[in-house]
Amino acid sequence: MNIKGTQQPMNQLILLNGPNLNLLGDREPHLYGSVTLQEIETRLQHQAGQAGFGLQCIQSNHEGVLIDAIHAARKTTRGLIINPGGLTHTSVSLRDALAAYDAPIIELHLSNVYQRESFRHTSYVSPLAKGIIAGFGPLGYELALSALVSVISAEC
Ligand code: DQA
Repeated sequence: MNIKGTQQPMNQLILLNGPNLNLLGDREPHLYGSVTLQEIETRLQHQAGQAGFGLQCIQSNHEGVLIDAIHAARKTTRGLIINPGGLTHTSVSLRDALAAYDAPIIELHLSNVYQRESFRHTSYVSPLAKGIIAGFGPLGYELALSALVSVISAEC
């Protein structure tokens, strides 16, 4: 598991990346681009800071670690961005953890999953998401954060 960022309740957001996303920049660059996850996380933490938020970043290849992180985030964060990787299309347990998370959720995919294999057209996460961003590569993370901050600000 890779964890970056500090915890400051109330103005804290969380970015979760699921299985295999630790290989970003190296893995299938024609689909996922050449930017590393570390570069994305650093960029996003800067963007969050400028908007007045802290951003905790967690990547794990293990479903249970992601579920534990979502449980912990219930009391400490105001919004969540998730790229669940392959768990998007398979995990009822991840979906159930997200259903117990009351703040806004943005689902994110680097690739346009609807242009790909049909098994990627089903998401257990989408019904719980405020919105979905897919197909913009690493830029999608910045768009997701911008959207999440706007949604939270509109709630205040
Ligand atoms: C992905 C799409 C998923 O179908 C795939 O399993 C991934 C990455 C994306 O970001 O495009 O691991 O979530």
